[in-house]
Amino acid sequence: MSEFSPSRPARLRRSVLSVPAINRRALDKLSSLDCDAVIFDLEDSVSPEKKAEARENLRAFFAASPLPGKERIIRINGLSSNFGAEDLALVAELEPDAVLLPKVDDPQDVMVVGDWLAEADAPESLRIWAMIETPRGILNAAAIAEAGRTAGSQLDCFVVGLNDLRKETGVLPQPGRPYLVPWLMQVILAVSAYGLEAIDSVFNDFKNAGEFEAECGQGRSMGFSGKMLIHPNQIEAANLHFGPDAAAIAEAEAIISAFSEPGADALNVVNLGGRMVERLHLVQAERLIHKARLIEQRSSGAVAASRIET
Ligand code: COA
Ligand code: MG
Repeated sequence: MSEFSPSRPARLRRSVLSVPAINRRALDKLSSLDCDAVIFDLEDSVSPEKKAEARENLRAFFAASPLPGKERIIRINGLSSNFGAEDLALVAELEPDAVLLPKVDDPQDVMVVGDWLAEADAPESLRIWAMIETPRGILNAAAIAEAGRTAGSQLDCFVVGLNDLRKETGVLPQPGRPYLVPWLMQVILAVSAYGLEAIDSVFNDFKNAGEFEAECGQGRSMGFSGKMLIHPNQIEAANLHFGPDAAAIAEAEAIISAFSEPGADALNVVNLGGRMVERLHLVQAERLIHKARLIEQRSSGAVAASRIET
């Protein structure tokens, strides 16, 4: 199976900003921010007494501000909590692009929500995202991702949550995340095996630009599509590090042009300036150029880029 199925929408998910749904001032800022996606959080950043008010804020916000060009995701409370069912009903009512499930431990957590949304007649285009942030979530990442293959499954994306994972495991925050890398790569392997995407965890110290940039570079090298953010001042660096740079674009264009030479359609490998390039590199190159176009169109304000279908 091809790594890049052209029927699957390619989206920009470099910068995925979380906003506490209780914070109206922060909600009002969103239309002026250049993030690719917004997570409206009803879970951990909203206290139990404020959950109802946070839901009302989202009702008002969704009615007034469609945020064209940005993917909109609502993070709900777990269904076993007192708040999850009402949150999910709100999701069915507001029809964001996706619902983000916290603390997903096993495939059943995803299936239950898929069934619930189907019964609530939520649109099929409404995707399910899963927070992978518990020891069981990491151990079961492949089985959870496989649930995305089930017919009719709306599972689309994983978001790693290191704050919860550190709390559960005792791993301390450290530059370079040495003890966490094996778990992060397990998540990347799981999403790659089943055609999903993964977003890297938040970085809490939002005034520490240097370490944040280093972590963005690391996340990009590991294969994450983007980073979950907590503060507007993290957007620019995430867009930069998770977007293709000029050298990568030039390289991709050279690969595409090498495979467009007369007679190259019958070749699986070509010589590009003394280097072997395979047809699989062509697939990667086309994907990269597609993303670069989305970014270009987006910065020119031409279209709602995150919704362009390939
Ligand atoms: N989204 C949109 N705007 C935000 C924002 C966010 N996540 N975080 C801060 N802002 C806004 C603030 O409202 C403020 O706007 P103003 O200048 O109009 O007052 C501006 O950016 C500067 O904010 P700053 O004063 O530096 O920070 P703060 O003290 O207001 O907020 C946090 C700091 C960490 C509390 C806040 O960034 C936050 O709540 N982040 C998200 C937390 C979250 O979603 N957690 C759950 C996932 S881990
Ligand atoms: Mg969490």
